[in-house]
Amino acid sequence: LKAKYLDQIAAAADEAAIEEVRLAAVGKKGEISLKMRELGKMTPEERQVAGPALNALKDEINSALAAKKVALADAALEARLAGEWLDVTLPTRPRRTGTIHPISQVTEEVMAIFADMGFSVAEGPQIETDWYNFDALNIPGHHPARAEMDTFYMKSKGDERPPVLRTHTSPVQIRTLEKHGAPIRVIAPGRVYRADYDQTHTPMFNQVEGLAIGKDISMANLKWTLEEFLSAYFGKRVKTRFRASHFPFTEPSAEVDVQCKWEDGKVTVGEGDDWLEILGSGMVHPKVLQNAGIDPNEWQGFAFGIGIDRIAMLKYGIPDLRAFFDSDLRWLRHYGFAS
Ligand code: PHE
Repeated sequence: LKAKYLDQIAAAADEAAIEEVRLAAVGKKGEISLKMRELGKMTPEERQVAGPALNALKDEINSALAAKKVALADAALEARLAGEWLDVTLPTRPRRTGTIHPISQVTEEVMAIFADMGFSVAEGPQIETDWYNFDALNIPGHHPARAEMDTFYMKSKGDERPPVLRTHTSPVQIRTLEKHGAPIRVIAPGRVYRADYDQTHTPMFNQVEGLAIGKDISMANLKWTLEEFLSAYFGKRVKTRFRASHFPFTEPSAEVDVQCKWEDGKVTVGEGDDWLEILGSGMVHPKVLQNAGIDPNEWQGFAFGIGIDRIAMLKYGIPDLRAFFDSDLRWLRHYGFAS
């Protein structure tokens, strides 16, 4: 009897099989239980022999059942662990993460450098009125600068003059002066638009305007500020060329070129015989101050407009400005601007 049940227990493959053996052996109607009930019919002598033997047998079967149960549970856990095993040292699948566009990176860098020089940040709308984009900046209706700027005009409402896509960030000069007055030291980065398209021009591009108005700000302060900015931005002193120029909203005016070299589809800053124009600047015209409600007899200062895309080209050695706005991931990855 004992061997029979121990064999069955050993052979049981799962909980259900064990339960079957238990019922057959020590369940209410199990073989051993029935035998125990027969003890009553035995003589005391017989019972003294059979009783302990049956009890011992029952105990032994019960503990074998319990041990087998534990063994089965262990095996099941083992199997599950083996099935769910993960190699955490395996390399992960390649995954692409988003990155910040180079123009945005440069804009942030420019803001940080000027912040160190005490310039705060101002903003203006990209759809601008004729007044802010032109007239207030001393560019009257017939002025050739309007044609030169290849302006995009919006549809006009009724007989009002049509709004324009701002052709430069200079209108922010007027808006900020109107709002905050003088003295002031701000930069205004943002998108500007001109109908123009070649290797160094795109119809949408980015500028950062600078404006510093005080009691005794001079052209020397302008030159120092720009040179300080350029060496901080390029990480080295780069040769610059201040060329006398003309803007209706500054007097005197200067354009600034940076020394560079174009070679093998790459542009390098700080060497070579080429010059790339990167900004316009000058002393704010008294009429502009007046138009913004500032007394030109009391206040004066400088303004500049830097081509953000131009200085980005120079920093990253990119010869064609248009690539910045193609959103071609292969190009962005090639220059390390995307992963
Ligand atoms: N607004 C001029 C341009 O877009 C640049 C400029 C800004 C010049 C401020 C002088 C002063 O060409």
